[in-house]
Amino acid sequence: MPAVELLLRHAREFGLDRLDAEVLLAEVCTWPRSRVIAHPERQVETAAADRFLTLARRRAAGEPLAYLLGRRGFMDIEVEVSADVLIPRPETELLVTTALALDLPPEARILDLGTGSGAIALALAKARPDWDILATDVSSRALKVARRNVRRIAPGRVHLVASDWFSALAPVRFDLLVSNPPYVAVNDPELDSCVADHEPPRALFAANDGLAALAQLASTAPERLEPGGWILLEHGHRQGPSVRAMLEAAGLSAVRSIADGGERERVTIARRNGLPGG
Ligand SMILES: C[S@@+](CC[C@H](N)C(=O)[O-])C[C@H]1O[C@@H](n2cnc3c(N)ncnc32)[C@H](O)[C@@H]1O
Repeated sequence: MPAVELLLRHAREFGLDRLDAEVLLAEVCTWPRSRVIAHPERQVETAAADRFLTLARRRAAGEPLAYLLGRRGFMDIEVEVSADVLIPRPETELLVTTALALDLPPEARILDLGTGSGAIALALAKARPDWDILATDVSSRALKVARRNVRRIAPGRVHLVASDWFSALAPVRFDLLVSNPPYVAVNDPELDSCVADHEPPRALFAANDGLAALAQLASTAPERLEPGGWILLEHGHRQGPSVRAMLEAAGLSAVRSIADGGERERVTIARRNGLPGG
């Protein structure tokens, strides 16, 4: 049976960084990472060592760590992920914290459009047990992952519907629309090849320089929002001016973009005129 030290050396030879190697070794051994770090002499069962070397090669070839582990932390939850869903990003936590800071009615009706793993809807459901949350996706494979996450994290709290944006929904209005839609331009030269090669294209790319889905959501929002209701859209860091213009053209008010910790506009918010309940 090989020792921890030897396995980590092999991983380094494949070009894997130390942290990822420790995380993967801890995972296959079902140990805490601290044990991997503290006990380089410890022997690893042969089956676990083989599994580690397979995962280490896949990681070194660019497969995202979250897909290899099958999970990702987001806000205060951990969601299951697979190659059928986007890996939830830290940037998207800005969307969630912005939503949680809004002054919404106690039993607000929320719609998460393009829910993927269900991360946004579930983070909102955990924080606001009284909100009525619906989440949609056009991908049936993504919805299967989301369904398992809902069952494990907040059973019965998020209703999932297969829908091309609003098309399959009854004509109801919402107090809050949230979406992290696909917004990467096809052939964006800045897109990391690990992302382009492994994450679902439908979760990433949109026509019209990445703005097509954002435009569709912005233009439909007024007829789907209650008076005084809000829409929050995540977008690329150079898309703020275009998204603000779309929301203003749709007749929404209080339009503003919010920057992340790196001073990049990543979320734009707008409101339908009128008083809640009016
Ligand atoms: C950027 S991912 C966001 C996933 C998740 N909300 C998150 O933040 O981690 C965009 C999601 O929108 C979904 N999507 C793409 N086109 C759609 C459409 N026409 N209608 C509904 N969902 C769509 C994709 O399947 C994908 O799950």
